[in-house]
Amino acid sequence: MSRIGLFFGTDTGKTRKVAKMIKKLFDDETMAKPLNVNRAVAEDFSNYDYLILGTPTLGEGLLPGLSAECENESWEEFLPQLEDQDFTGKTIAIYGLGDQVGYADEFVDAMMEIYDFFIEKGAKLVGTWPTEGYEFDHSEAILDDKFVGLALDLDNQQNLTEERLNSWLQSISGDFDLTL
Ligand SMILES: Cc1cc2nc3c(=O)[nH]c(=O)nc-3n(C[C@H](O)[C@H](O)[C@H](O)COP(=O)(O)O)c2cc1C
Repeated sequence: MSRIGLFFGTDTGKTRKVAKMIKKLFDDETMAKPLNVNRAVAEDFSNYDYLILGTPTLGEGLLPGLSAECENESWEEFLPQLEDQDFTGKTIAIYGLGDQVGYADEFVDAMMEIYDFFIEKGAKLVGTWPTEGYEFDHSEAILDDKFVGLALDLDNQQNLTEERLNSWLQSISGDFDLTL
């Protein structure tokens, strides 16, 4: 049984691609196989004390799901299934994909939806991320001058993805007891 759950939602597959990049860096005992939340059940979440959660933003603050015109259900439909779970004692880290050029006023907003949901249920957040190195006008996903998770832009800064991912994983390695 792996120690860390790795869950994502996606529309066009990029958030899955990043999940696979994360998984590739670890063995099976450390990191679970990435699971699309449209295939997950609530019990899958209760198995883990450590969770990495990935989401794209698809419209103003919108999580992927049917309201965002995704083909399949996603975070939007899955989160209500977790409504009764207590995440006290669990640690989460969030990564979010967005497009800072096309959506400069709402860059990676959906990370905040994930943040709000899990923090309200008692989870502890790690892995906040600096806003330097991006050019955008506004993001809802910023608290105390930092993104609430790793912001990735595969549409405009694909070449920075691997480097950002490695630094981010390094930054959460203490809290997640990871060896990189
Ligand atoms: C209809 C649509 C709306 C989008 N809205 C936003 C947005 O509000 N903010 C943002 O940062 N990116 C936005 N994006 C960009 C996506 O988040 C980005 O392309 C992401 O990498 C897609 O991830 P996925 O392939 O996992 O679905 C939008 C993309 C589409 C197609």
